[in-house]
Amino acid sequence: MNILWDSDPAALDKYRFALGNDTQALDSAAMVARVLHDNLAVQHVIIGPDVPLESACDLAESARLDRPELGVILLRHRVDVTTLSQALRSGMREVVAADDHTALADAVRRSRELTMKLVGHSGDAGGPEGHIITVFSAKGGVGKTTMSTNIGTYLAHSGSRTLLVDLDLSFGDVAISLQLIPDRSSADAVGMSGHLDAQGLQSLVTTHADSGLDVICAPSDPGDAERIPVHVVTELLKVARQHYDYVIVDTPPSFTEHVLAACDISSALVLIATLDIPAVKNLRVAIDTLDMLGSPKEARIVVLNRADAKVGLRPEDVVSAIKTPIAVNVPSSMTVPASVNRGVPIVLDDRRGTVSLAIRELSDVHIRQRFGGAVNGAETRQRKSLFRSRK
Ligand SMILES: Nc1ncnc2c1ncn2[C@@H]1O[C@H](COP(=O)(O)OP(=O)(O)OP(=O)(O)O)[C@@H](O)[C@H]1O
Ligand SMILES: [Mg+2]
Repeated sequence: MNILWDSDPAALDKYRFALGNDTQALDSAAMVARVLHDNLAVQHVIIGPDVPLESACDLAESARLDRPELGVILLRHRVDVTTLSQALRSGMREVVAADDHTALADAVRRSRELTMKLVGHSGDAGGPEGHIITVFSAKGGVGKTTMSTNIGTYLAHSGSRTLLVDLDLSFGDVAISLQLIPDRSSADAVGMSGHLDAQGLQSLVTTHADSGLDVICAPSDPGDAERIPVHVVTELLKVARQHYDYVIVDTPPSFTEHVLAACDISSALVLIATLDIPAVKNLRVAIDTLDMLGSPKEARIVVLNRADAKVGLRPEDVVSAIKTPIAVNVPSSMTVPASVNRGVPIVLDDRRGTVSLAIRELSDVHIRQRFGGAVNGAETRQRKSLFRSRK
């Protein structure tokens, strides 16, 4: 969590892109001191450009003694040598020009890495790790991308560090759904194979500004998919879960070897069903395959999408065919394609609509409540591979 110390009420919105959603804005030194005292989860204090330098240095000096792991970053309208030396002498980690949001995001990332080293979880096994949640269906067009983009957006927007990885490597449409223009994609992870670290991971990410969701997009050239070996995907996801509370994986409509690798290290699978016979048959086959691979039943979260469609098949028929209970019913709504066409995820576009409420229930009850230990690590250590028999 970050604190933004700034007297400007609009400051939080201004710096949200760089700081993420897990940031609390406070307007006085006394408030900052109180929150720092009460809340040990605070990792950074970012001090706004209008806070007097003396007050900023006082805070940094006392934090250096009381909370050496705390990163203090100073924003200034103009960065000059005097300010820089005074700030660094007081123990601040960085001084950044207030209008350079990219530099601020970089400074926070560097500072976070330093904090993680200081508190002893450098991302090695044993430290608190997040959860990989793979969204899958063996049939195309059932709503995998709709679910994964909206689950990711909702989790990120409501404060969890969330990464969405588009594993539909040839035909991924996460970027277009979120109207992202990525500079890099998962194909760029290939060159970092074997030594992918937090910085490398960050370089692959495109951030969805409205929610703070980080995204690793699929290659724009479908031919590039073949160049991405499975072990690169596994490495990428393993590194990612060290730095995010949730890593949501969107998939193509078949069990590719990349999908199997993702399932293997996932904490849960969100399986999408719809009320049509081919989709139910394919889901049945997918569930049989998962059974054969030793994937535990309790890790499956079945979502019935377009659950209210009047097409002759009923939800009960689906349950008896797949022999797995439905966790959440998501209704059909024209607001979904309309939101995709606008490039705004439905959970932001129509927050109180029935589709959004169902996706929020899925995220809060079936993901957050179940894996709430991700942030403090208490439950993550019990996480198992989905494919027990292969371990
Ligand atoms: N609940 C819903 N109500 C109305 N339309 C929906 C709903 N869910 C998904 N759709 C629409 O169905 C279409 C397919 O959805 P989506 O792209 O999410 O499926 P997919 O499983 O990812 O497909 P693919 O296998 O091709 O990647 C989209 O046009 C989407 O807007
Ligand atoms: Mg899709």
